[in-house]
Amino acid sequence: MMFYKFAYPLPMVAFFAIIISQAGAYDPLDPNGNITIKWDIMSWTPDGYVAVVTMTNFQMYRHIMSPGWTLGWVWAKKEVIWSMVGAQATEQGDCSKFKGNVPHCCKKNPTVVDLLPGVPYNQQIANCCKGGVVSSWGQDSSTAVSSFQVSVGRAGTSNKTVNLPLNFTLLGPGLGYTCSGAKKVPSTVFLTPDGRRKTQALMTWNVTCTYNQILASRYPSCCVSMSSFYNSTITPCPSCSCGCQNNNNCISSDAEIESVVRKNRTRSRNSNAMIRCTNHMCPIRVHWHVKLNYKEYWRVKMTVTNFNYAMNYTQWTLVAQHPNLHNITQVFSFEYKPLLPYKYTNDTGMFYGLKFYNDVLKEAGADGNVQSELILKKDMTTFTFKQGWAFPRKIYFNGDECAMPAPDEYPYLPNSANSKLISISTMASFLLLVFANLLGMI
Ligand SMILES: *[C@@H]1O[C@H](CO)[C@@H](O)[C@H](O)[C@H]1NC(C)=O
Ligand SMILES: *[C@@H]1O[C@H](CO)[C@@H](O)[C@H](O)[C@H]1NC(C)=O
Ligand SMILES: *[C@@H]1O[C@H](CO)[C@@H](O)[C@H](O)[C@H]1NC(C)=O
Ligand SMILES: *[C@@H]1O[C@H](CO)[C@@H](O)[C@H](O)[C@H]1NC(C)=O
Ligand SMILES: *[C@@H]1O[C@H](CO)[C@@H](O)[C@H](O)[C@H]1NC(C)=O
Ligand SMILES: *[C@@H]1O[C@H](CO)[C@@H](O)[C@H](O)[C@H]1NC(C)=O
Ligand SMILES: *[C@@H]1O[C@H](CO)[C@@H](O)[C@H](O)[C@H]1NC(C)=O
Ligand SMILES: *[C@@H]1O[C@H](CO)[C@@H](O)[C@H](O)[C@H]1NC(C)=O
Ligand SMILES: *[C@@H]1O[C@H](CO)[C@@H](O)[C@H](O)[C@H]1NC(C)=O
Repeated sequence: MMFYKFAYPLPMVAFFAIIISQAGAYDPLDPNGNITIKWDIMSWTPDGYVAVVTMTNFQMYRHIMSPGWTLGWVWAKKEVIWSMVGAQATEQGDCSKFKGNVPHCCKKNPTVVDLLPGVPYNQQIANCCKGGVVSSWGQDSSTAVSSFQVSVGRAGTSNKTVNLPLNFTLLGPGLGYTCSGAKKVPSTVFLTPDGRRKTQALMTWNVTCTYNQILASRYPSCCVSMSSFYNSTITPCPSCSCGCQNNNNCISSDAEIESVVRKNRTRSRNSNAMIRCTNHMCPIRVHWHVKLNYKEYWRVKMTVTNFNYAMNYTQWTLVAQHPNLHNITQVFSFEYKPLLPYKYTNDTGMFYGLKFYNDVLKEAGADGNVQSELILKKDMTTFTFKQGWAFPRKIYFNGDECAMPAPDEYPYLPNSANSKLISISTMASFLLLVFANLLGMI
């Protein structure tokens, strides 16, 4: 019976891993990552309130890229938006009941987007107007915030009569986020600029949105390939990692892209049709090359290649998990920041570009890649080139986990030393046998 219990540990582990990864929005490398949307009521008006809405991206390595966030909710009663500063509702809706002043938006389920940089000052507030682009907390916490002000009418005018908005939705800019209900929290306390006086919001509620890659897309959006100095095999990305090749739906050469872009501008908006034809069909490939072996150190070269002709990846991030990252000694041409999702494991870190140098991964083509080399100090108790140990356990690009090759396809350390030993010992035993036979025969 014991044998039955332990006979299939691997499939069981894989089974539970799948259940866990599909169950919730939980990201093991960033277990506390979320986007929090906080509403602070700053003043009551004759028919409602003025609130400052602040969106903070607490995710360590997942940012909101251009074209930016879209936030939606459903009003609990008959509320309308009289005006907004630092953002706008995408549709006004039916305001025909209003005589005189016409609201900014009368929809039951308003959809709000950020304003673009450079709007007139009277339409701005702090942390607004960035085209909806929000940094990840790990890369730059000072720009991981986006705010706007909303003046709400036909709402309650006291903390007892206000109804919290319902059913929040967030696009960042694509699918993937799920938002909690709004929850009343202790009022935010603000410090005046001179730091000598505290004020507080009249009422505050929070909404928390978390990301789940499975909701974002059916396929991964990146893949990993591998090579090493000790084996000439290059292990490619698994084929069809990000969908399968369909020649009508991908670009087969740089020459074709010229004609496509010139002929059909609408096609370039359909990004799937703007990906270079490859066996993996991923817009992004991360290549991990084990480059050199020193006595006390070893060296890795990382190359991120963009196969998407329609996308410049600004503020890109790359996360790697490898047991030797706690002894990383030098990182060339990328920034590096260790991530410590759990107190006692320091095996995960994020890489991102240097400002104004390689923080933009350019569209596919000659310039569509960024590279770095890492020097890691060997921890002699664990270090080995055997069994693919030198390759990463996980890679994420822009917060999405990349498809990895199957472990038995990693470049193997040639076991020539072993096979020599084996052949010598077989030879020896053969000779012994012959000898013994000879002796016996004598
Ligand atoms: C959201 O993230 C912040 C920062 O990591 C964390 O303090 C907070 O508990 C998170 N909220 C939820 C509901 O997970
Ligand atoms: C409303 O505010 C008052 C005064 O700040 C407070 O005592 C009361 O508990 C609040 N009521 C609710 C429902 O939050
Ligand atoms: C909010 O969403 C839930 C579930 O999706 C739905 O049943 C409910 O009707 C929605 N509420 C409003 C006011 O739209
Ligand atoms: C509400 O959100 C803010 C971030 O905007 C956070 O600092 C605060 O801790 C949150 N409150 C609760 C109770 O989660
Ligand atoms: C442009 O591309 C779109 C999407 O691929 C397609 O529907 C449309 O027919 C194309 N137009 C022309 C003129 O080729
Ligand atoms: C990417 O950026 C370059 C300039 O840095 C620009 O010429 C090009 O049009 C951009 N490509 C896309 C797809 O936005
Ligand atoms: C984690 O590893 C990095 C890289 O060696 C190091 O700089 C950092 O101090 C380590 N942090 C902890 C908490 O061990
Ligand atoms: C590697 O890092 C760990 C933890 O940060 C430390 O305990 C160990 O001594 C380091 N090893 C070497 C060879 O520096
Ligand atoms: C290189 O690695 C591959 C696995 O990717 C393996 O099949 C091959 O035998 C290795 N080459 C040598 C010389 O060991």
